[in-house]
Amino acid sequence: MDITWKKKLLVAAIDFGTTFSGFALSFLSDYEKDKTVNIFGYLWEPGDQPKTHKTPTCLLLKPDMSFHSFGYEAENKYAELAEDNEHKDWRFFRRFKMKLYKPSDRNSCGLSTQSTIKDTEGRDFNALAVFSFSLDYMKRKIIETIGEKFPGVREDDIHYVLTTPAIWSEEAKSFMRKAAKNAHIPTERLRIALEPECAAVYVHTKELPALDMMTQGERAMKPGSCHVIIDLGGGTLDIAAHRVNGHCQFEEIIPPYGGPWGGDNINLKYEQFLIKISGGPAFTKFKENNMDDYLTMQRQ
Ligand SMILES: Nc1ncnc2c1ncn2[C@@H]1O[C@H](COP(=O)(O)OP(=O)(O)OP(=O)(O)O)[C@@H](O)[C@H]1O
Ligand SMILES: [Mg+2]
Repeated sequence: MDITWKKKLLVAAIDFGTTFSGFALSFLSDYEKDKTVNIFGYLWEPGDQPKTHKTPTCLLLKPDMSFHSFGYEAENKYAELAEDNEHKDWRFFRRFKMKLYKPSDRNSCGLSTQSTIKDTEGRDFNALAVFSFSLDYMKRKIIETIGEKFPGVREDDIHYVLTTPAIWSEEAKSFMRKAAKNAHIPTERLRIALEPECAAVYVHTKELPALDMMTQGERAMKPGSCHVIIDLGGGTLDIAAHRVNGHCQFEEIIPPYGGPWGGDNINLKYEQFLIKISGGPAFTKFKENNMDDYLTMQRQ
């Protein structure tokens, strides 16, 4: 097993979610002293609300198909363009991570390097490019943040971690690796980690009290115990069951289970409900003429 990552000065971990994404930084020296303190979680600025640890997973490309922005910045700019009805030549992408989940087949994913995904206007664009642009932005933001907060750290001092749902196929993970490579994240310094396993490790790094003081939840973290981790995200519901073999050591006792049952389905059902009462053509017209209102509705 490659353990060179352990010697890197710091870990930059990217949580690339269906609806929201973020990243955090952790120095090896801090981690060796205390695993849970001094984890630096980057805070994003929504503009009109307090800062948050995650930003919307949205990508905006300019009319010439080059990168414009990601996250709140992309959402705000696109809403602004839509308000002035100047958005038509731009490309706005959201909720695209779900395209990598194919419920009918655990061994493959829904996308190949040639696949296309649709923007909000229904136009096709190369899927790998959409993921690559987004990860490239994340990486640049990481480097920029490190430069500001921790000057002196070199790019090759960083080990990257990218999380994926446990229910994803190997093919989907490999697609993410390709996107990360295109985003200039060196493969030899990248580790793909499963979202529920990261949650389990995080819980494990907390110091447990004496046995008689333990809560039921804390007892589930003792060696020999079993636990179930449920991650209800925007796109997927991801369930993992582990047996604890030792400190931060887990054994998968049943294959990860889950499906496309994340909170974003509420938005989808709401949209379907509006289509039912107003009719498809009216809703399409509403989206065409009032993209800014449509986006506000989605946000709300
Ligand atoms: N207070 C709340 N009550 C219910 N749902 C909420 C609340 N706050 C956020 N959500 C929903 O949680 C989802 C976002 O969760 P999260 O950030 O974990 O998802 P994600 O990481 O983007 O998705 P995934 O892990 O599936 O790729 C959104 O669908 C949002 O609507
Ligand atoms: Mg998530």
